[in-house]
Amino acid sequence: MPIIRRLPEHLVNRIAAGEVVERPASALKELVENSIDAGAGQITVRLWDGGLAGLEVTDDGCGMVPEQMALALERHATSKLPDEAIEQVTTLGFRGEALPSIASVARMTIESRPREADEGWRRVVDHGELVGDAPAALPPGTRIRVEDLFGKVPVRRKFLRSGRSEYAACLDVVRRLAMARPDVGFVLEHDGRRALAVQPGETAPQRVARIVARELAEDGVVIDLERGPVRLTGVAGLPTFNRGVADHQYLFVNGRPVKDKLLVGAVRGAYAEMLARDRHAVLALFLEVPPEDVDVNVHPAKTEVRFRDPAFIRGFIVSGLRHALDSAGQKTAQTPAAPAMAAWQVEPITPVSAPPGASLQSLFARQYAPQSNRVQEGGSVWRGYEAGVMATPSARAEEAAEIAPEALAHPLGVARGQVAGTYIVAEAADGLVIVDQHAAHERIVLERLRAAGMGDAVAQAQALLLPEVVELEEPACDRLEEAAEVLGRFGLVLERFGPCAMLVRSVPTVLGKGDVQALVRDVADDLAQNGAALVLNERLDHVLATMACHGSVRSGRALGVAEMNALLREMEVTPRSGQCNHGRPTWVKLAHGDIEKLFGRR
Ligand SMILES: Nc1ncnc2c1ncn2[C@@H]1O[C@H](COP(=O)(O)OP(=O)(O)OP(=O)(O)O)[C@@H](O)[C@H]1O
Ligand SMILES: [Mg+2]
Repeated sequence: MPIIRRLPEHLVNRIAAGEVVERPASALKELVENSIDAGAGQITVRLWDGGLAGLEVTDDGCGMVPEQMALALERHATSKLPDEAIEQVTTLGFRGEALPSIASVARMTIESRPREADEGWRRVVDHGELVGDAPAALPPGTRIRVEDLFGKVPVRRKFLRSGRSEYAACLDVVRRLAMARPDVGFVLEHDGRRALAVQPGETAPQRVARIVARELAEDGVVIDLERGPVRLTGVAGLPTFNRGVADHQYLFVNGRPVKDKLLVGAVRGAYAEMLARDRHAVLALFLEVPPEDVDVNVHPAKTEVRFRDPAFIRGFIVSGLRHALDSAGQKTAQTPAAPAMAAWQVEPITPVSAPPGASLQSLFARQYAPQSNRVQEGGSVWRGYEAGVMATPSARAEEAAEIAPEALAHPLGVARGQVAGTYIVAEAADGLVIVDQHAAHERIVLERLRAAGMGDAVAQAQALLLPEVVELEEPACDRLEEAAEVLGRFGLVLERFGPCAMLVRSVPTVLGKGDVQALVRDVADDLAQNGAALVLNERLDHVLATMACHGSVRSGRALGVAEMNALLREMEVTPRSGQCNHGRPTWVKLAHGDIEKLFGRR
């Protein structure tokens, strides 16, 4: 019969350390959290080789007397639950596990001095064994150094990654905690170099702006919402300001940085139809809920929480974010990306070689005369390219000439021409606007489809003169048949026509006369791809987006001035028209100031 026995303390600690301390960054997180809980106003972090060669956290907090230092290293010893009310905990720590866990798998040096004490004390623990206990000289506060992490736990040491990736994880920890506490100053040094420094006493928006991309201030929406006792504040990036990884989402619950699945899911839901599946929003959100409504004791690193009413929290975040983003309306990430600006700037200027004998003046005249003549005639240099680019007869000079100066006051200005059959170039009162015609139109069609079909009203459908038969595989027909009622509401009326075909009776009017076969096939694919995984609403949005793509003007189609202006005006009144259905911008603006910079006038 096997013998059951109590494990010795050092083994218990090492087992606990398996959960709490995974890598240098997790040890660092515990130490910085302790400094915050100790009321520090300034916290300095030093790392060597991403923490693999050592890490040290110094604070000016309350400090500890020697007896407390000894206790702090014991398991389940904490100063943070004075009345044992774990539901009401307001500190980051509460379990009394971190220090003994770290000390069991590394060499830990704790130095501490309470404010009122004349001197400090040092305790050194090496993999669970006390090896130093003596007075030490230091200013009031606490300094904890962790070295030789997993030095005697080779299995764990093997799993550590390179100094570079451990450093990235440590930096992330400090950034998140620094954002959670804008009142506290933070310094991070890596291998003797200062990597981050923020002053104490900042406001939350200042701290967010300093730590997350500076652009978030311009390309983001300020969030400040309240429902009952729950509050959500922060900055949410516009969908056009997106990233390929979700690392730039900073989420906090009651001042605690979290990577909670529910919250991440809510953010994803809020941005769902504005971002491609593989793109991620950039944001910093601070959720405040009454402490009794959230359990923070569900994850060893405390990065996940459990809400008493998760559906409420999710709904609050999704609808709040959507509302805020919608009201941002036209706003989009308009500042041309830096590389694009650079491309404008490095455009090579081909010097015109003067033919022998020609004077500079006559050369100049020859080169610019046709265009400058036209400027005088019609008020637009683009007229010069009319024949070549604006192929449609409607784009005649007279039309453009009639533009009233007030028209420039439209946010997106007046169309001046089309480039590459793909981009509309417009002049607004404050700059030059370039629109991606396909992306913009696709958005408009999607919004129209959505608006038409979402209410009780049935979208306008245009009946086909001759119903069209679309042949498909049987499962595809099954899916379409199952979705027929919903599709019908949006104007796509189809019915089963034998085992392997569908009969299409009408298509949504907004889609115009397109390729019905391709439309139905794509909708079927879409249902297959996203079928079971998504809830009805999200699924619908996918289908609508697919339909919208069919109904939109293609890139490469020449547009007349009137058509272009109509598109611009339509964009101005369409919600979310600043980004296409995949989260890319539909238009960019080069402000007059930017243009001046390009020409070195500023
Ligand atoms: N930097 C510090 N300044 C002052 N006291 C500290 C500091 N770090 C730790 N302590 C004291 O040591 C105790 C133990 O710290 P430890 O991190 O192990 O547990 P905890 O913070 O209470 O809970 P948790 O395990 O959830 O972090 C703390 O409760 C606190 O009293
Ligand atoms: Mg702690």
